[in-house]
Amino acid sequence: MTHPASEPNPPAGGTGNAQAATGITGAAATHADGTTNTVEPILATAGVSKTFPGVKALQRVDFRLFPGEIHTLMGQNGAGKSTLINVLTGVVAPDAGTIRLGGEVVAFASPQEAEAAGVRTLYQEVNLCPNLSVAENIFAGRQPRRFGAIDWPDIKRRAQAALARLDVTLDVTRSLDAYPIAVQQMVAIARALSVDARVLILDEPTSSLDDGEVSQLFKILRHLKQSGIAILFVTHFIEQTYAISDRITVMRNGEREGEYLARDLPADQLVSKMVGHERMSARLREAAHEGHDTHEKQVAQTVQPFIELRGVGRRGTMQPIDLDVQPGQILGLAGLLGSGRTETARLLFGADRADSGTILVEGRPVRLRSPRDAVRHGIGYCAEDRKKEGIVAELSIRENILLALQARRGWWRKINRQRARELADLWIERLGIKAADAEQPIGLLSGGNQQKALLARWLATDPKLLILDEPTRGIDVAAKFDIMDRLLALCASGLSILFISSEISEVLRVSHRVAVLRDRRKIAEVAGKASNEDNIYRLIAGSGE
Ligand SMILES: Nc1ncnc2c1ncn2[C@@H]1O[C@H](COP(=O)(O)OP(=O)(O)OP(=O)(O)O)[C@@H](O)[C@H]1O
Ligand SMILES: [Mg+2]
Repeated sequence: MTHPASEPNPPAGGTGNAQAATGITGAAATHADGTTNTVEPILATAGVSKTFPGVKALQRVDFRLFPGEIHTLMGQNGAGKSTLINVLTGVVAPDAGTIRLGGEVVAFASPQEAEAAGVRTLYQEVNLCPNLSVAENIFAGRQPRRFGAIDWPDIKRRAQAALARLDVTLDVTRSLDAYPIAVQQMVAIARALSVDARVLILDEPTSSLDDGEVSQLFKILRHLKQSGIAILFVTHFIEQTYAISDRITVMRNGEREGEYLARDLPADQLVSKMVGHERMSARLREAAHEGHDTHEKQVAQTVQPFIELRGVGRRGTMQPIDLDVQPGQILGLAGLLGSGRTETARLLFGADRADSGTILVEGRPVRLRSPRDAVRHGIGYCAEDRKKEGIVAELSIRENILLALQARRGWWRKINRQRARELADLWIERLGIKAADAEQPIGLLSGGNQQKALLARWLATDPKLLILDEPTRGIDVAAKFDIMDRLLALCASGLSILFISSEISEVLRVSHRVAVLRDRRKIAEVAGKASNEDNIYRLIAGSGE
């Protein structure tokens, strides 16, 4: 077998193509049931380009996905990953180039058409209907019918079966928004898998999952791969990339930088190809290597905390907790999903009202009955669910960034246009938000860039305490280090941060102290030597205090 005529020849120009070309034959052989035959790609693009106003999102991209492989698409925020997926799945029509599925040229006019052809997709933003039941979400738009009527018992049974494949048991008749976002994500995956697929595409499916759920998902993906399904996966987690991928395609500035076998591409090289060799700082190189702690952290003991929680709890949500954050410090919250991390954050921000205990701000008892109270006391909250509590898709980037500041000033005291533009531009620059223009609707930004804008919103209010709930979710490795550096610099001038992340290594890297939560209570607080990953995992697992 040879590659079809349309088979993308290693494109001219760009780096990494030589490795790519040699890598491909070897890789194909690996995936041909142990034989040495060359396999045809199941899905391929040739010369695909897409320009949005002011942005070349894709430039002559050649991409291919083979049956029975897990192929990871990597690149910085705004590199074009989601756009490529959107082109493959009929969400966006390319300006140029062709797409082939099983060797045939296709031009899907809609995601439904792509689905019908066996290309199943889980998009970056969970696109489910929160007020419909779990079962309806799994089968929405393709309910099994009996004698023309929707067959509810059958839907229920099938929804349960689809979830059972993921080892998830839910009451499928409950509405979706009764469940936390990680569970909603699982429902979305169940939906994608509920029909026969030849290709399964997942755009950052793991960003809201905890370690256990990720390994669960990976188990399923490996199983699907064995059955010959081609899997295209997007993630910013380097470790996950290597845990699951056979092949990696690197995107940079809308171009395909190269295609590699995962085993031939060391992590530091991968990062360097994503950001461009010239931008590869020594620190990033080191970090890419093994997530080293490169920050100096001093733990001051005697300072008056900015905020103190004494026995603050809420029946049914959070056991009474003692916590304090000092000026200039980062307090990390570690724990599994559902351990009470977000619940604690919501109490601190007045999003939920505490029904026991005392909250002190700069030594004085305060009542935080609403987010408005919290904001008045200089508290900002960058929420976990950027779609629900975060960005307003139809407002501009500028308006989104200035939203919290404007709310604090009061809507009758409008920030003047000139000032608003300057402030927005300042934060766009400081956080490296990749946008053609601050006046664009924010919904047009890539996922990671939306997350940065959300962070900018709270930084623009010049808060004294910033609560960051999974702030770097969806943000690429290079930008992540950049942002953490900026946050640490702000801490040096007095900002306090409560930092929540599922990635324990990330919590440890930035936090001066770490409070460990389990089953909605605080079980330990560690600093210095005790704050190492092993120790924290032991605490979370409940062995070792
Ligand atoms: N509908 C659109 N209109 C205008 N610009 C768009 C649109 N969709 C994407 N873009 C722009 O195209 C570029 C590529 O975006 P894309 O979403 O593909 O990035 P990505 O690689 O998925 O990034 P991330 O890691 O942040 O998700 C970005 O600059 C983005 O703002
Ligand atoms: Mg994306």
